[in-house]
Amino acid sequence: MRVVILPTEKEASHFAADFIEKFITEKNNSILGLATGSSVLLTYAALIEKYNRGDISFKKVITFNLDEYIGLEPNHKQSYRYYMSQKLFGHIDINENNIHIPECLHGDFESTCRYYESKIKNYGGIDLQLLGVGSNGHIGFNEPTSSLKSRTRVKTLTKNTIINNARFFDESESQPSIAITMGIGTIMEAKNILLLGLGQHKSKAVADLVEGPLSSFCPGSVLQNHENAIVVLDQLAASSLKLYDYYIHSEKMNVEYMC
Ligand code: GLP
Repeated sequence: MRVVILPTEKEASHFAADFIEKFITEKNNSILGLATGSSVLLTYAALIEKYNRGDISFKKVITFNLDEYIGLEPNHKQSYRYYMSQKLFGHIDINENNIHIPECLHGDFESTCRYYESKIKNYGGIDLQLLGVGSNGHIGFNEPTSSLKSRTRVKTLTKNTIINNARFFDESESQPSIAITMGIGTIMEAKNILLLGLGQHKSKAVADLVEGPLSSFCPGSVLQNHENAIVVLDQLAASSLKLYDYYIHSEKMNVEYMC
């Protein structure tokens, strides 16, 4: 696992955006797995800037979002579909037909999940999966004790996640407690994974994920088993890492070696 520590959340997010830009530039029909939440906001803003400067085009990019709440209308302000259109898709040249987000309003959710999996497979799998991490170590909505081989499915959210995400909902709004999420097995099939961890409140989850035992109790720790996983952190999120100095030194060596 490559661990990149940068001084601020802005620098970490710009690193992630540059990484994604390089990917899309090398393969303009890349399949991207996308995340929602606060951690990826500055990365999306940086991608929009790149698009506005003419550095990057999303015309041929295909996207699959990690998860969606069950029961929210697509135009509900807290739905992840709405989030994606506000924070990224509405500002770039992506083709509507290339956007995939689990359909979570009506219907047979089991078939929806199977269909989502088959769609990803039919496109040849995800080239680059972007992830955030919950303060309990979840990735997507794969809560602690999720099977490390799980596939896209309906998942009940923990109290911790509901409380953490309550900040996005008005008091009068009812907050969903179930969601559809790509499984951990699904995420692990992505050819490359970039996880962003920002802020002091993520430092424990990050330490468990990077240096703790591989355990379903910290779902993100499964990335230790991925061949091409990169964890991008700001200093605060990295502050509980035991090998902090080593990661900084190792990145410096990488840069010198590659130049
Ligand atoms: C949320 C989302 C995840 C996100 C994570 C961290 O509940 N389901 O996709 O990565 O938790 O969220 P944030 O970045 O807002 O801390």
